[in-house]
Formats: sequence, C-alpha cells, structure tokens
Amino acid sequence: APTKILVLAGSIRTGSLSTKLAALAAKELALIDADVTRISLADYEMPIYNGDLEKEKGQPENAVKLARLIAAHQGVFIATPEYNNSVPPLLKNTIDWVSRVEATGDAKFRNRVYAIGSTSDGMIGGARALIDCRKIVQAGLGAILIPSKIEVSRAQDAFNESGEMTVEPVSKLLKRVCRQLVDLSARLAD
Ligand code: FNR
Repeated sequence: APTKILVLAGSIRTGSLSTKLAALAAKELALIDADVTRISLADYEMPIYNGDLEKEKGQPENAVKLARLIAAHQGVFIATPEYNNSVPPLLKNTIDWVSRVEATGDAKFRNRVYAIGSTSDGMIGGARALIDCRKIVQAGLGAILIPSKIEVSRAQDAFNESGEMTVEPVSKLLKRVCRQLVDLSARLAD
C-alpha cells in the first residue's frame, strides 16, 4: 500500500505563504506515489489549552480527531510560519492538545516521521520557527525528524502563480526531502 503522509500548515490565513509551501509539498509527495492527506487547521479549531478545561470538559473532539489522523499516517509534513522568532500559537496549541491526547492513551502515534519547512517574508526564512517546531514535535509527539530543513526566505516572491517554487535550490531541496520523508516513513511503518 502507498505510504500515507499527512500535510498541514501553521497558518489559516487567506494567501498564507506556509500554506503555499504545504500545498507544494503535498503535490511533490503525490508525485512520488505517497497517499497524501492535506488538512487545514481551520477545520480543527481548539480552545487555548487550559488544564481546568481539560479536567472539566475533557479533550476537544478536534484534538482527538487530529491525534487519530496522525496515528493513521506514517509521515507528516509541517510548514510553519515564524511569529516573533518562533512557531505561531495556532500550531503550538494544536500540538499541545494533541500531545495530551497521546499522553492519556487514546491514540498512539509516536515514531512517525516528520519533515518540517518554514516560510517568512524576511531573509531568514523562518529558520528560528523551524528549529522550535522540530523541538516541539520531537518532545510532544515523539517525532522522528528528517534532518534537512526547508527554509523559504522572502516567501512572497518564492512561488509563482501556479504555486511552483521559483527558487531552484529550495525547489530541489523540497523534492529531496519529500522523497526522504516517504522512504523513511515506509521503512519505519509498523
Ligand atoms: C510575523 N512575521 C515574522 N517574520 C519573520 O521572519 N520573523 C518573525 O519573527 C516574525 N514575527 C511575526 C510576528 C507576528 C505576530 C506576525 C503576524 C508576523 C511575518 C510572518 O512570517 C509573515 O507574516 C508570514 O507570511 C506569516 O505566515 P503565513 O500566514 O503567510 O503562512
């Protein structure tokens, strides 16, 4: 069976640059015969994590749903924006809730393979958000990380109208990382 890869971005804004990267990654992954599921976190809205809320109302249905979705895939591609040198609260909060679902035993999804890319409108391509994102998915979700980091600087100029990457070295890196993600995910699948 084809390797199942989940793709998501850390922004739900119209015209989001990280969503463009996620869309392109999804396309590349499908080209190498992965079974790709692309989601928007807009469809997985969750309140800001609060331990009282969890105790009183339990975990949000969307957190459980997303945890089960990760469990049903072998690999994950995340495209993150950079907010104040780190990941946006949308992404951090989602990962926090999903890590709680895993910790309390509802869905088991440690040892999935993750590839992370970042975008920003500046010159560093969200490199600091990318480092934090890697740290968070490793600590919170038990991710196995593809070492390569895809950093898209001046991302507003990096995609053409059909969503293709115009910066050749980054385009090549993205293709290579997608191949690594599919290969390693397939090999580690249980
Ligand atoms: C930003 N942006 C930004 N860019 C960057 O390179 N380093 C940074 O630290 C920040 N900080 C930051 C904070 C906040 C609150 C906002 C709203 C924005 C710019 C940001 O990377 C840019 O707006 C991206 O386009 C946002 O990602 P999406 O929505 O395009 O995916």
